[in-house]
Amino acid sequence: MPARPVLRSGHPTLSRPAKAVAEFNTPQLHALIQDMLDTMVAENGVGLAAPQIGEPLRLIVFGMQDNPRYPDREPVPATVLINPRITPLGDEQEGGWEGCLSLPELRGWVPRHTHIVYTGFDAEGRPVEREASGFHARVVQHECDHLDGILFPQRMPDMRRFGYQAELAAAADNGAEAVEA
Ligand code: NI
Repeated sequence: MPARPVLRSGHPTLSRPAKAVAEFNTPQLHALIQDMLDTMVAENGVGLAAPQIGEPLRLIVFGMQDNPRYPDREPVPATVLINPRITPLGDEQEGGWEGCLSLPELRGWVPRHTHIVYTGFDAEGRPVEREASGFHARVVQHECDHLDGILFPQRMPDMRRFGYQAELAAAADNGAEAVEA
């Protein structure tokens, strides 16, 4: 199947915890992952969580290599991550602009852990473990939140920094540089 429609904020699937994937390396799982990758590319996102296309499973995809829209961003390895867990490394947090394919055109300033370790499994069920910092860590935290029914505005301490990309950019508040995940 090709790219699928992305559910938007307000759809109940986006606000419910997703279920763990129980079986790896099945045709159904590979087909779902391919749909997610196709959807992420079609929507120009850097990440996508399965609930965003209506599948309430603990499965995310993300990655960004040399995107001309974001030349100053460090690349994020193309990754399929199933049943993920995040452990913060230290207490440091940093703010950054985020967008979400489920909240089109909107941006918000969200604090995230600066350094994390994430673990999980790939499509074949092999363990994945990585340290990540900065933008890479932000993308993983954003996507994992989707699996718990959390959208980025729920992480915002100051809703004055939430709004439409065009207006934020016009106000020179730099919101246009956020990426959608
Ligand atoms: Ni999102």
